[in-house]
Formats: sequence, structure tokens, C-alpha cells
Amino acid sequence: MSEVKGKHVLVTGAASGIGAGICRLLVGAGWSIAGLDRQADALDKQMHRLRDEGHTAVTVRADVTSWDEVEEATATAVQELGGGLDAAVNVAGIGGFTGDVVATSLEAWTAIVGVDLTGVFLVSRATIPFIRRAGGGAIVNVSSQYGLVGGAGFPAYAAAKAGVIGLTRAMAVDHAPDGIRVNCVCPGPIETPMLSADSAETDLARRERERVRNRLLLGRIGQPEDVAALVAFLLSDQAKNMTGSVIATDGGWTAG
Ligand SMILES: NC(=O)c1ccc[n+]([C@@H]2O[C@H](COP(=O)([O-])OP(=O)(O)OC[C@H]3O[C@@H](n4cnc5c(N)ncnc54)[C@H](O)[C@@H]3O)[C@@H](O)[C@H]2O)c1
Repeated sequence: MSEVKGKHVLVTGAASGIGAGICRLLVGAGWSIAGLDRQADALDKQMHRLRDEGHTAVTVRADVTSWDEVEEATATAVQELGGGLDAAVNVAGIGGFTGDVVATSLEAWTAIVGVDLTGVFLVSRATIPFIRRAGGGAIVNVSSQYGLVGGAGFPAYAAAKAGVIGLTRAMAVDHAPDGIRVNCVCPGPIETPMLSADSAETDLARRERERVRNRLLLGRIGQPEDVAALVAFLLSDQAKNMTGSVIATDGGWTAG
């Protein structure tokens, strides 16, 4: 992956879980990264660790649901990375059981769709002009197995994650002429703080766990580095023939 040496990528959701794992793997592959998150302290800690290891890792705080914050953070990231942006990875997301559509409040719906779908739109809107100016590059969006199939008790999350797949394909079509490839990864259960929160002992969580028991064909919970490896591949020239692709890394969860 030596072709990525010195290239610049912005990663959202970089303070925790999958986003932090992606940052770790990408700096190791030679990327200079800007980590974006709304949790400033946790983000600083993650990026600091990478800088201590000699990598280029800058910190930009923003809430992905705010256009003003995203626009400003993207400009700051580009400046602090020394100019230019070659890639973006949309990872920031929130989960949570809200019940069926009748039980889901408009407030909860709006909050989840706001982060998980509108956030991807806003960060793409802010980063694409820079990637275009760099002569092209790549974007990877993180959806979920629940973007591909339904689940009990989270209609807003499933709708938002399916929306990310549609948005990925739309952007792939629109931005192929710019030389920008846009792909989507759908993780299954991955060991992160979000998964622990979703595994809380609520009736809905228990019902969903029972419903999907035995779905992990490979018999293991995924790790952030499993997703990171796929993202690194999709960002690299090895994936130069791929755009608009939607790939699961879910231990076989959606296979049957
Ligand atoms: N963990 C899983 O099992 C799993 C499975 C499928 C998909 N995913 C997806 O992977 C992504 C990362 O999840 P994770 O498990 O690492 O979760 P996590 O909770 O560990 O990390 C999510 C990160 O996103 C950040 N974030 C949330 N809302 C934000 C906002 N409005 N603005 C900026 N940053 C914000 C959080 O601060 C946090 O650092 C999410 O999009 C999630 O839906 C996770």
C-alpha cells in the first residue's frame, strides 16, 4: 500500500470503536489522518497516541449533524494536514433501540437519522470539493448489517443505514467523473462501546439477541480491525475498479 504514503484522509467517529481502529490501521499504512468527532477529549487521546508513535494525526472536533461545524472542521483539517484531501471515511454513528415505528418518537427518529444519514451527507458535501481538487480519491461510508436486513426495535437506525447504501450509490454515480470512488461497508456485530450499549438488558435487546442467535456463522464477534482492513483496501489503489460497492464484514450474519 505504498501508494498511500503522505496522502490525507478525514475519518469521522475517530474517538471510539471502529473509527479509532480505522485511524490506527490507516496511519500504519502510511496515511496522514484528520480524526473528527464530537467527543473532544476522547478524540485528543486517540490522536495523541498516534502522534506519539510518529504518525501524522490531527484532531478536529465537530458534530456531524451541524453543517457549520462540519464545514469549518473540514477546512481546518485540510489546513492542518498541510493542504489537500484525498479521502474521507464516514464512521460516526449512534445506535439504540427505540421500539417499533409506533413506539419510536419523532425526536428519536430525527436524532438517529440526523447522525447516521444526514451526517454522512454533510461530511461528504464538505469533503468532496477538496477531494475533487486533489484530482480524485475515495470515500468509504460505514453502514451496518441492519442496512441490508431488518431487526427488532430500531426502525430509524435500519432506515438510516439503508439510506447510507442508497447515498453511497448515488454519490458513486455523480462523482465517478471526478475520479472519486465511493463504497460502503456493512459491519455485523463489532466489539465496541456501541455494541455493549446495544447489548443492555432491555426486552427489545433480549428479543433481538434471541432472534439472531446463530447468525454469526464464523462463531466470533468482529473486531474494529476487521472493518479497518476492508476500509484500508477500499481506499487503496487495489480497489481502483470498485465504486458503488456494498460489502458486508459480518461473520456471515447476512448470509442466510
Ligand atoms: N459496533 C457494531 O456492532 C456496529 C455494527 C454495524 C455498524 N456499526 C456502525 O459503525 C460505526 C461506528 O460504531 P462504533 O461501534 O465504533 O460506535 P462507538 O459508539 O464506539 O463510536 C461512534 C463514534 O461516533 C461519534 N459520534 C456519534 N455521534 C456523533 C456526531 N453527531 N458527531 C460526531 N461524532 C459523533 C461518537 O462520539 C463515537 O466516537 C457507526 O456508524 C455504527 O452504526 C457498528
